[in-house]
Amino acid sequence: MKNEVIHAVKSLSGGVEPPGDKSISHRYAMLAALADGASELRNFAAARDCHSTLGCMKSLGAEVVVNGTTVQITGHGLRGLKSSWRTLDAENSGTTIRLLSGILSGQQFTTKITGDSSLQKRPMKRVVTPLRRMGADIRAKDDNYPPLEIHGGKLQAIQYEMPMASAQVKSAVLLAGLYAEGETTVTEPAKTRDHTELALEEFGASIHRKGRVIAIQGTAGCNGKAALQPKSLDVPGDLSSAVFFVAAASLLPDSDLFIGNVGLNPTRSAILDFFTQMGAAISVVNLVSKQGELIGDLSVRGAHLKGGVVSGELVALLIDELPMLAALGPFTEQGIEIRDAQELRLKESDRIAALAQNLKRMGATVEERPDGLRVEGRSAGKLHGAEIDPHGDHRIAMAFAVAGLAAAGDTVVREADCAAVSYPTFFAELRRVSGS
Ligand code: S3P
Repeated sequence: MKNEVIHAVKSLSGGVEPPGDKSISHRYAMLAALADGASELRNFAAARDCHSTLGCMKSLGAEVVVNGTTVQITGHGLRGLKSSWRTLDAENSGTTIRLLSGILSGQQFTTKITGDSSLQKRPMKRVVTPLRRMGADIRAKDDNYPPLEIHGGKLQAIQYEMPMASAQVKSAVLLAGLYAEGETTVTEPAKTRDHTELALEEFGASIHRKGRVIAIQGTAGCNGKAALQPKSLDVPGDLSSAVFFVAAASLLPDSDLFIGNVGLNPTRSAILDFFTQMGAAISVVNLVSKQGELIGDLSVRGAHLKGGVVSGELVALLIDELPMLAALGPFTEQGIEIRDAQELRLKESDRIAALAQNLKRMGATVEERPDGLRVEGRSAGKLHGAEIDPHGDHRIAMAFAVAGLAAAGDTVVREADCAAVSYPTFFAELRRVSGS
């Protein structure tokens, strides 16, 4: 495991292009493996998580050829997956295990799927409950944790009111709905990322949306007539990865950074509005729409950040960006407060605890709460370098690397290679644009 040392710098300049979007790559890979024929996915995420998904789809009988960031996947139709003799390994990826659970529930065979020690602590009941209602027989450790043993079979459509705002749960039910008899609907309590809906539409599934209700027509009884079509697709860059550079460039007054080819889907881009409200100097240029997804380039200059509060429905829209926002808190005028975000304790690490612990190590004033935290702003004093423990969590490692750029003295991010879960080249890119 490799440590990274972050030195204080004055500015970021030049350009970066984030890796392909992690959420979209997972979905395209799964649907390509269910399509009838060969798909080509370009700018596929370098993220280790998405390669975990590719490994699982390969074990289930899809042909997968990876050539840099271009991935060719040949599927054998909706009913073309084969049972895997070995337990599937989702490694660190919650999206892999939860979305695949939906697909595996519709198969006429049994699959075991597990993950690393972090994933084995993450709750699966949220997908197991609706999938059981659809007819799948699923066993889980303590009825909640991986490994999962999924006995798939004939599914029936359900009308599911989700108890929490989760794109992963929504997606698991919609993907199982693809195999069910009749029309499955999912109602969201608050809007979450809609890449599954867009990707299903793109591959040819029959899906309709009305406000917070999403309906998918099942293919059971369609005699193979409702096949998914193979596609040739470009994955937009990952805004959730780009955000670390948006934050770093905003933080350092003399910065002028160009961030190219960034996915700007409205269910993901609330973070840019939040930055702008905080006073960040971000402009979006070259906006285009491809395969239902918006893509653009960002230009970011240093700014004086005001700070702010994230609560209510905004939490689900900013969920992956909250570590970065919290770590920016001490550099803002009024600090950052995060409420209604108990979900953050159930991510790759307990992110509320990991943020509070590492912010305090750097000298910040933090109040940790069950559903979030309050980080005092600039008047509470300047941060100093410290040794950061990311708890194996990629977003914690990257968020504190950014904070380290504006702290006094050096910051050491321990076991920093965990960043590869979403952004394998993050530290190399950071060194390049910070000239350090
Ligand atoms: C994701 C959904 C979110 C997010 C995760 C990726 C997805 O999780 O935190 O990084 O691709 O669907 P939840 O749906 O559990 O909030």
